[in-house]
Amino acid sequence: MELISSIEAFRTAKLNCCRAAAKANSARPLVGFVATMGNLHEGHCSLMRRMSEECGVRITSIFVNPTQFGPSEDFAKYPRTLEADLDKCEQAGVDIVFAPDNGEIYLQDRCTEVKVSRITEGCCGLMRPGHFDGVSLVVAKLFNIVQPDIAYFGQKDYQQLRVIQQMVQDLNFQLQVTMCQTVREESGLAMSSRNSYLTTEQRAQASSIYAGLKAAGEAFNAGERKADTIKAWVRSQMDAQVRLEYLEIAGGETLEPRASANDGDVILLAARLGTTRLIDNIILRVRE
Ligand code: PAF
Repeated sequence: MELISSIEAFRTAKLNCCRAAAKANSARPLVGFVATMGNLHEGHCSLMRRMSEECGVRITSIFVNPTQFGPSEDFAKYPRTLEADLDKCEQAGVDIVFAPDNGEIYLQDRCTEVKVSRITEGCCGLMRPGHFDGVSLVVAKLFNIVQPDIAYFGQKDYQQLRVIQQMVQDLNFQLQVTMCQTVREESGLAMSSRNSYLTTEQRAQASSIYAGLKAAGEAFNAGERKADTIKAWVRSQMDAQVRLEYLEIAGGETLEPRASANDGDVILLAARLGTTRLIDNIILRVRE
């Protein structure tokens, strides 16, 4: 596995890696990509393992992207754990880790923005103004640098995933975006780098978030369709310390709020425990 920080060296390493993979398999290898901000956990590892199964050339990026953090958010204290991350990448079968510094990604004289509209207006977009502009900008840049065939993203960041899918479609990026299931701790808490900010007590309280989503999913399966009633099921299970920032039932594609839920809609929420912000979601599916 190679660790590379410059775009130029990355391109050479990728070319060599593709040549070696093509020689071994006498076919053009698929190039897989997992974009991360580091502090890797089992959620990231599951994306990387899936990439390793499906692709001949496996690339992971580690870059804590300043443009997606608001002025009062946790950019400075976001956990940076490069050594441990590299071990996890190696174990998951990654060939190249691209870990640029800020100056390599953002030139002083940049004039270009990447803005995905409509689906960024609600949910996290409302709570974190400019956040998705930073995500779409950096992901567009990473896609252009890495030029993958398949990029893997977790369902946990559902709105982010939709923003990236939409950007790929609207700007004709030549790649497939694969959504991978949310990986959860035994308690049901969705894996996230921000879980490391939680105390033991808060971790236990945070598990009530998924308990609420599950109860709501069961109500939907039992035939409930009224969005307000389904949302009440989410709240009914939630620990009193969990402060909801938003709770929405939205179209899976459009992310438009629904009054009545349908197959494929998503329950999305963000909540705070102390100062830690957590997000989670489930996709509603009518049982056969
Ligand atoms: O999900 C993340 O970790 C980040 O938003 C991403 C996609 C790596 C862009 O910085």
